[in-house]
Amino acid sequence: MASVTELGYLTLGVSNLAAWKGFAANVLGLEVVEGVKPTTCELRMDYWHHRVTLIEDGSDDLKVTGLRVAGHDEFHEMAAQLRAAGVAVTLCSEAEAEARSVLEVMMLKDPNGHAVEIFHGPLVQFDKPFHPGRRMHGGFKTGSGGLGHVMQSTTASLQENYAFYSLLGMRGGIQYKLEVPGAPGPIPLMFMSCNDRQHTFAFAGPGEKRANHIMMEVDRIDDVGLAYDMVKEAGLPIIIEPGSHANDQMFSFYFKNPSGFMSEIGWGGRSAVHQSEYYQRDAFGHTPVPGSMKDFMVPA
Ligand SMILES: [Fe+2]
Repeated sequence: MASVTELGYLTLGVSNLAAWKGFAANVLGLEVVEGVKPTTCELRMDYWHHRVTLIEDGSDDLKVTGLRVAGHDEFHEMAAQLRAAGVAVTLCSEAEAEARSVLEVMMLKDPNGHAVEIFHGPLVQFDKPFHPGRRMHGGFKTGSGGLGHVMQSTTASLQENYAFYSLLGMRGGIQYKLEVPGAPGPIPLMFMSCNDRQHTFAFAGPGEKRANHIMMEVDRIDDVGLAYDMVKEAGLPIIIEPGSHANDQMFSFYFKNPSGFMSEIGWGGRSAVHQSEYYQRDAFGHTPVPGSMKDFMVPA
């Protein structure tokens, strides 16, 4: 059975490309690579050609998650196992793969109707070291753990999402039965991993946007602090104050990005334990800023 190995790239639809470029460079510290069209640009965070594509289409949401498989054989094995399970898969043309700076790519939809791409062979530019958009103490922690993690809203059940992403070779399950004051009962949150990053995807209930938050991890705690200062300097709302989740034990905080969903910057996450556990609350901190959470699902 073929398995995805990492979250390789993301495509975001934005309403204000200029605002996003400034945010990516000056707040997140990403490297902005201008696109071939005036309505797109790409963002780098390591040696890869890019990790994020911004398309100015007004949607202000996550459009595509790009999941990597090891190589050509695994790519075609994955297409076959998806089709055998009744999932519609479109193998893309060479031009479509080139546009994404990968060797081969296929397109499919998850049970929520969300676009997913599975690819192999990203363009890795060891001749072009990552150049952060602003000063950083270190860099982003990617490597075999992929670009970070994403929490997505769901219209399908958690069980349907579990079945679909298990078919892609991901593992996981319910990791939180979150106790929230005022809620009628514990809120279940599901997490899936495909490498040593504790989770690559998190799933909660329905939300206005597909994206609840996108997490990027930095090598040094100083860069969490610097990002916190940059968020405040930019006048962006902090949504959840610094703290540590029980599952990934990452020191992180959350803030609103120009598309209105959350970005999370973290440091020091532990590796996946590859055995099921569940938690009722975070390790410490992560206090929501009063009034800030009304637009968001509970994150983790
Ligand atoms: Fe997170």
